[in-house]
Amino acid sequence: MPLNTDKSVSVTDAIMTRITCRGFLDKPVPKVELEQIFETARRTPSGGNLQPWRVHIMTGKTLANFTEACMDNVKSAVMEGETFPAYPSPLWEPQRSWRYKLGEDMYSLLDISRDNKLGRLMWLANNARFFGAPVGIIVTGNIKLGMAQHMDIGIYLQTIMMLAREAGLHTAPQGWWRRHPQSIIKFLNVPDDEHVLVGMALGYGDPDAPVNNLWADRAELEELVHFYD
Ligand SMILES: Cc1cc2nc3c(=O)[nH]c(=O)nc-3n(C[C@H](O)[C@H](O)[C@H](O)COP(=O)(O)O)c2cc1C
Repeated sequence: MPLNTDKSVSVTDAIMTRITCRGFLDKPVPKVELEQIFETARRTPSGGNLQPWRVHIMTGKTLANFTEACMDNVKSAVMEGETFPAYPSPLWEPQRSWRYKLGEDMYSLLDISRDNKLGRLMWLANNARFFGAPVGIIVTGNIKLGMAQHMDIGIYLQTIMMLAREAGLHTAPQGWWRRHPQSIIKFLNVPDDEHVLVGMALGYGDPDAPVNNLWADRAELEELVHFYD
């Protein structure tokens, strides 16, 4: 199914047309559109109304300087020690297979074979340029935040992703940024008591980018959801 770039007319439509977009058009998002999204997202709920997110939105020259600095780090393979790992290790089944399948499906669309380790690494580095999006977002939070606040931040991300679809935009949530916390903290002047939680690319999705044909599988309803009557 090709990438749907229309403005979503309902929440259902926003959910059904959202994918993690990994290729964007070189087209700026009007500031008013961006402000509207983040103004509306203030209504995101959070336990105890803590609103634990701190959001850094970069565009234009700032974004270019930021991605350039991060790309330099990636190229010189600077290891910064991630904020926290993306997954438990080792992963168990079926999650392990789901993760593996996602990677295989993506690299097959990109025509990068399993033994082409360099090719896969180079593709991963696209995270450092927010996949070419005109808007790069970094979410930081207090180092003392607990699991409950991390859930709140997940809800915040989904709110942004839904509002983006309503505006005809696409997004890519990126845990990848947790691998470069020091550079980010320095660049954005993040206070000492905060750390990097997640990032997000936002912009107009490129319907011609092959990677945007990736519709990640989902488990069947009955595998994960149980109704009790
Ligand atoms: C919190 C979070 C972090 C993610 N981090 C990354 C990332 O760093 N790079 C990436 O390419 N995709 C990332 N993803 C995208 C997931 O791989 C994707 O959501 C999942 O495979 C389902 O596919 P879909 O979003 O296209 O429906 C992330 C998703 C979430 C929710």
